[in-house]
Amino acid sequence: MTTVLSLDQGTTSSRAILFDQEGRPAGLAQQEFPQLYPQPGHVEHDPEAIWKSQLETAQKVAAEAQRDGREIAAIGITNQRETIVLWERSTGKPVANAIVWQSRITAPRCEQLKADGYADVIREKTGLVIDAYFSASKIEYLLDHTPGLRARAERGEILCGTIDTFLISRLTGGRVHVTDASNASRTQLLNIKTLDWDDELLKLFRVPREMLPEVRPSSAILGETDTSLFGKSIPIGSAVGDQQAATFGQACFQEGAAKNTYGTGCFMLMNVGQTPRLSRNGLLTTIGWKIGEEVTYCLEGSVFIAGAAIQWLRDGLKIIKSSSEVESLQISVNDTGGVYFVPAFVGLGTPYWDSSARGTIVGITRGTTQAHIVRAAVESMAYQTMDVLETMQQDSGITLQELKVDGGATVNNSLLQFQADLLNVPVQRPKIQETTALGAAYLAGLATGVWKDLKELATHWSLDREFLPKMEQPERERCANDWKRAVERARGWVE
Ligand code: G3P
Repeated sequence: MTTVLSLDQGTTSSRAILFDQEGRPAGLAQQEFPQLYPQPGHVEHDPEAIWKSQLETAQKVAAEAQRDGREIAAIGITNQRETIVLWERSTGKPVANAIVWQSRITAPRCEQLKADGYADVIREKTGLVIDAYFSASKIEYLLDHTPGLRARAERGEILCGTIDTFLISRLTGGRVHVTDASNASRTQLLNIKTLDWDDELLKLFRVPREMLPEVRPSSAILGETDTSLFGKSIPIGSAVGDQQAATFGQACFQEGAAKNTYGTGCFMLMNVGQTPRLSRNGLLTTIGWKIGEEVTYCLEGSVFIAGAAIQWLRDGLKIIKSSSEVESLQISVNDTGGVYFVPAFVGLGTPYWDSSARGTIVGITRGTTQAHIVRAAVESMAYQTMDVLETMQQDSGITLQELKVDGGATVNNSLLQFQADLLNVPVQRPKIQETTALGAAYLAGLATGVWKDLKELATHWSLDREFLPKMEQPERERCANDWKRAVERARGWVE
């Protein structure tokens, strides 16, 4: 049986999932790896921990596939985006921890760029707002703060890349230094119209061009794995940012189709076709995928903290033992008792783009219990999504007929019902919820002849459950209004 192995390198865990020709999962392994918080608002990963967890999960699933007589036709790669790694060209050894997309370490530099009037030119070229979220200021920071590194980079001794690039380099024994257009579009160094690194931006962020990978399509043979890893070489057929992969895995192939993923953060992407459409309200214009010469663009709303708020309840506040307790606690109370939780741990993304916001819980009374706080944390995902959807509809001029959802938190039926209620839009959960890994598998399978075309892939999508809005409009408005008041309390906290 022919299969495709997808490597999904996320913010908190590395996963490997095998898909059969109908796009059904046929094997899975997952490993969490440590999150490093050297200072408030700073987030790092050890690149070796990323590689180890990704390789071990891939090897486990590949060994099971071999045992079951399943042939792996291709590997697809999808990854947490924007997170940046720098390594030695000659040895492949990382020279510092990866700076993670969530890290606010370059917020002061970004504020300066805004004050210097670069917002318009950066938006025109990259489709992005100026924010510490993106890779460019992180590369600049590492070059400036790691002793001797800038000089070494200028001598051509240092390479850099997002996680896809790092994994492909490791998987190919250091032979291949590439990225795909979707990941490149998140660096803030790519001109999304020409699809080349932009000289003016390279100069602004002081990044030597020779450090950067070649930009390739999302679906193409990008390299072959080193034979030492899986006993034989396997073609790498795709690389794609995880949110774009989920959009592809949800079969959002038509202009106007959109999905929302509830992972560490929450990311809503809408396919806007083959021409980039710029936002004036804080959405990002991003490359969805490039297949052959055809580029598909998306509008994106990015929420930094969603599932990570639940992780914090477990690991930070320790008021739950496991995320599986969440739904039963949440429905043990009728509502949040007036509590609103704005999880702006690392500032706020769409539509606020406010680095100075911080996490805030308001409305606590003597009667507030653990269940109210848990419920408010869950509802915060739906509220943040509401803010994004409002902006998306304004900017695109498209009123969504339904919202496809995926990601870990979508097992929570009460969350999805509340989401449909708040948005006043039906929320659809597909049968196969591993859409991120599936999207990368699809793109790899298209490059290697496992699947013929998008039409064939679209037939794999099927509905698990649809959540229809039930809330009355006055109640919806009251909730939205209280949420917005809570957001205002969270803003402007860090001087
Ligand atoms: O832009 C960051 C995003 O790619 C992270 O995705 O799935 O790790 O929350 P995830």
